[in-house]
Amino acid sequence: MSVLSGKKIVLGISGGIAAYKTASLVRLLIKAGAEVQVIMTPASHQFVTSFTLSTLSKKPVYTDFFNSNQATSTWNNHVEIALWADLILIAPATANTISKMVTGACDNLLQAIYLSAKCPVYFAPAMDLDMYIHPSTQNNLKVLESYKNLMIPAEKGELASGLFGEGRMAEPENIVAFLTKSLSKDKSLNGKKILITAGPTYEAIDPVRFIGNHSSGKMGFDIALAAAQEGAKVVLVTGPTQQHINHPLVETISVLSAQEMYDVCHQHFDGVDVFIGAAAVADYRPKNKATQKIKKSADDFVIELEKNPDILASLGAIKKQQFLIGFALETENEIEHAQQKIRKKNLDLIVLNSLNDQGAGFGVPTNKVTFIDKAFHIMPMELKSKEAVAVDIVNKIKEHYA
Ligand code: PMT
Repeated sequence: MSVLSGKKIVLGISGGIAAYKTASLVRLLIKAGAEVQVIMTPASHQFVTSFTLSTLSKKPVYTDFFNSNQATSTWNNHVEIALWADLILIAPATANTISKMVTGACDNLLQAIYLSAKCPVYFAPAMDLDMYIHPSTQNNLKVLESYKNLMIPAEKGELASGLFGEGRMAEPENIVAFLTKSLSKDKSLNGKKILITAGPTYEAIDPVRFIGNHSSGKMGFDIALAAAQEGAKVVLVTGPTQQHINHPLVETISVLSAQEMYDVCHQHFDGVDVFIGAAAVADYRPKNKATQKIKKSADDFVIELEKNPDILASLGAIKKQQFLIGFALETENEIEHAQQKIRKKNLDLIVLNSLNDQGAGFGVPTNKVTFIDKAFHIMPMELKSKEAVAVDIVNKIKEHYA
């Protein structure tokens, strides 16, 4: 399976003759399993049609900030597109686009996306021989590399001008090979297997009602994706949620109750390297589940509860080589309670989030966590998107195996 499989790629096309090759490039990326969002500069429309690229990428192609041709005015949010991408590939990158990337000029959608990006940026220069060797272009290429943008070197050959030399955009096959090699190098969780829990559990009262909680599942799903993007094979055991994940390295198993989550986790635990408990598992469940809907009668109604098994603690008790990461969701004495959980559940690391911190915990797209390791080193982090917190957690796993 290609390392490009499941990758979200923004393909930025600028206006040079090599743009005609991007039709093949899109095909190859899609064939490798990537999701491709094409962004064209206005000038690139002279060399390849957006219709071709949108057909091949199976997505609308964007050039402008505003979609004025639609009945209801919509706009293409450059920040959202940039944050969506796992990588940006600018091919062809003309001398003009390269110089704008260097200076931060922002006169089109592609430039705005480039400036908003947090992901790796690859660019494949394409221009005529003399433009390519001009000191100002060569200087610009060096500056982009100093920005940690990754250059896919231009190739030698016959150029559109009829001249022969360096400046041709790398062939689409070579661009894909470059990306594949570059991404494979970075995948430090290749070969690792990670079991993750996510979401709430529902503890049935009767066929209609349940005891649940506010977990949306986002935190666990974001960790699953971040781990898979580092090459890990992930089994994601999730309670009821609206979250979706589409990555070939992630197997999702849906459960309802804590007992079901416990059973599935124990079935898979033996062969895994890492376990992460991001689920908000109900500590108690109704002792008896009514087989029929309970009818309204008396003013007071008492449900007797019994303890659910503690999944994390039970895995902590049998762990061998596994690196065990738990979460702690607290409302008071946060550090102390989290440290107790490390001890009681035999954890290697705990991710503490407190409902006292704005933007942390349930439902919200952000989280503010503190890492505490088993030696009780406390590492507070700032408020971040859950995607960014997920990357921090994956980095902790990478540090463990480094
Ligand atoms: O899903 P989101 O809306 O994105 O919200 C994310 C989150 C707030 C749910 C997440 O960040 C989080 O804190 N998850 C753990 C919630 C929780 O149940 O915390 P706890 O302190 O009660 O439990 C401690 C640890 O034991 C957790 O890893 C939990 O998964 C685990 N546990 C708890 C009870 C139980 N019976 N079995 C368990 O495995």
